Amino acid sequence: MKYCKDFTVVSNEIITPSLFILRLQYPEALPEIKAGQFVEILVEGERDKDVFLRRPISFHDVNYETNQIALLVQVVGKGTASLSKAKKGDKLNLIFPLGNGFTIMGKKVLLVGGGCGAAPLLYLLRILKQQNIETHTLIGCKDVNHLFSKSEYQSLSSLYITTEDGSYGEKGFVTSHPILQQTYDAIYCCGPTPMLKAISKHAKEKNIPCFVSLEHSMACGIGVCLCCVVDTQQGNKRTCVTGPIFLSTDLKDF
Ligand SMILES: Cc1cc2nc3c(=O)[nH]c(=O)nc-3n(C[C@H](O)[C@H](O)[C@H](O)COP(=O)(O)OP(=O)(O)OC[C@H]3O[C@@H](n4cnc5c(N)ncnc54)[C@H](O)[C@@H]3O)c2cc1C
Ligand code: FES
Repeated sequence: MKYCKDFTVVSNEIITPSLFILRLQYPEALPEIKAGQFVEILVEGERDKDVFLRRPISFHDVNYETNQIALLVQVVGKGTASLSKAKKGDKLNLIFPLGNGFTIMGKKVLLVGGGCGAAPLLYLLRILKQQNIETHTLIGCKDVNHLFSKSEYQSLSSLYITTEDGSYGEKGFVTSHPILQQTYDAIYCCGPTPMLKAISKHAKEKNIPCFVSLEHSMACGIGVCLCCVVDTQQGNKRTCVTGPIFLSTDLKDF
């Protein structure tokens, strides 16, 4: 079941000038939301008259006790710049929950996230913790200023961090972190496509199932416009309905 409802902005936390976390209040009990699913958010009215299509954003966090969700957003263009101006009390219209979710499996798993693409991993960690699955989380970012939700990650998982400039954790990229040499039952990966491909290749070599979250450009988000088609071993699939989470070995070019 999909919903189209107004949420109320509870807070807009600025992480960097181009990265922010919106906390949104749902007026009733939240329906079940799977980690890895996303919303299509309307950017309209006084906020911006030029942004016509809804923008897809992943669930960063979900709290069923308060009926609040969190969205971590990076400003890349008009829509996200407009959303960055949302303030407490504003209403935002969301279609949700969209897409599939991560397949939960195994006893010990690795989560790998790069930049703001790591957004879906926090809620995934909550689900894995509820199921008593041991987790290691490896987050890569540009520098310490781009690190977000660190204390939440640490409260849920063993956390490993890389920064490109060495300002926090190991210097370099997630792909060269020694934690990757450990054995896992599954790897969950979100972030830029080159990182997804590198981690998928590593997982394939070690024979570990690897689930990746694709951030293809989308329009409708509900399977109608066909603008998000991806080439898979089973033929063309729409990322918004069959994905955004795919088993990496199901994807061509991965
Ligand atoms: C399933 C899904 C989940 C997503 N989750 C998040 C999230 O949690 N947080 C977040 O910040 N962003 C997320 N994104 C990306 C986000 O939807 C885009 O950054 C946003 O739609 C850009 O809108 P805009 O109007 O600001 O930029 P636009 O003006 O539309 O585009 C600005 C530039 O960004 C490029 N761009 C637009 N969309 C994408 C995209 N999907 N991937 C790569 N480049 C793109 C455009 O080609 C253009 O160069 C997600 C995308 C998908 C498909
Ligand atoms: S975004 Fe329209 S079919 Fe996927």
